[in-house]
Amino acid sequence: MEVNTGTNKAVGLDFLTKKPYNPPSWATHLNPIPSDYFSLGHLPTPIHKWNLPNLPNNTEVWLKRDDLSGMQLSGNKVRKLEFLMADAVAKGADCIITIGGIQSNHCRATAVAAKYLNLDCYLILRTSKVLVDHDPGLTGNLLVERLVGAHVELISKEEYAKIGSVALTNILKEKLLNEGRRPYVIPVGGSNSLGTWGYIEAIQEIEQQLQTVPEKLKFDDIVVACGSGGTIAGLSLGSWLSSVKAKVHAFAVCDDPNYFFDYVQGLLDGLDARVDSRNIVNIINAKGLGYAINTTEELNFIKEIAATTGVILDPVYSGKAAYRFTNDIAENPKKWEGRKVLFIHTGGLLGLYDKVQQIDSSVGNWKRMEIHESVPRKEGIGKMF
Ligand SMILES: Cc1ncc(COP(=O)(O)O)c(C=O)c1O
Repeated sequence: MEVNTGTNKAVGLDFLTKKPYNPPSWATHLNPIPSDYFSLGHLPTPIHKWNLPNLPNNTEVWLKRDDLSGMQLSGNKVRKLEFLMADAVAKGADCIITIGGIQSNHCRATAVAAKYLNLDCYLILRTSKVLVDHDPGLTGNLLVERLVGAHVELISKEEYAKIGSVALTNILKEKLLNEGRRPYVIPVGGSNSLGTWGYIEAIQEIEQQLQTVPEKLKFDDIVVACGSGGTIAGLSLGSWLSSVKAKVHAFAVCDDPNYFFDYVQGLLDGLDARVDSRNIVNIINAKGLGYAINTTEELNFIKEIAATTGVILDPVYSGKAAYRFTNDIAENPKKWEGRKVLFIHTGGLLGLYDKVQQIDSSVGNWKRMEIHESVPRKEGIGKMF
């Protein structure tokens, strides 16, 4: 169903509808421009001040809450999926294939989006050699994926490293084609040139949000986690082309900065953007012990930020990015003094369930409530049994 955005947005009737896409005025020279998108995210996401402890004088950190872009579909992936799913439907797909780590937020969001659009979903999930032949369980993202009926195919990290994500998705694609299915493959993290439009659009959203504040607000910097590169490609290109003009700092949680400069360049070239990735984004290593592996310090940091600001960061992406970012502020306070920074919280809360054993028992206080034996009963609301 195609609906008129203007009227239906106000009454919330445009969710899950397909709409014609018009790019921001500053992005009309990019090529190709998607023709349609599906409204999948709860957008715009809020922006608010984030009172991080120990900021230098006059440094302001604001938070863009892309973790609030939905519930099952939460996080940054929903913005890419708006374009990717429209393409899948336009191409007549009857199922989606994608691939990622065992707690991939992208795979979970894709599984939900696929089911919303009445498509089947096949997920190739990477796990350790010792777990690859066992039921992967229902922790975190896996619970959502399995509840919505995604077909989970496990592979080991070694197989993934040896064969690569493209060949692995191709194997499954061939198999499904032979069975008469019409599969559509979404690459790791939804990070191709089409998915990049999700964060080009996010920049337009930020631009429009900034125009609504009565006192002038302009961000000097945008800080965000980077995992497969699509988010930073869209953000940095959009920020460069639009009136936002903030410097984008990408904290890479896997691979290395050079790999991402090259990968982002490929995404930009795929849009005929004619810009050099090295001129529009600053990429910093935030990998720490390795992808999805946390130090106690990182997890304690997530706990402290939650307890002081109420914002829960995920352990794999924004938690690591914010940890490295705040360390950099502590080590180089002059660099950040007086700056207005927008940190993009890209979601991933479900990944935290995979870390509960590592998060020590000091999380929150509990005790048995003290009740004196002689307290008399009083009738009231809440008769639960
Ligand atoms: C929660 C979350 N944040 C950030 C990222 C990184 O985004 P990108 O893959 O576009 O670099 C991902 C996925 O990789 C993610 O799941």
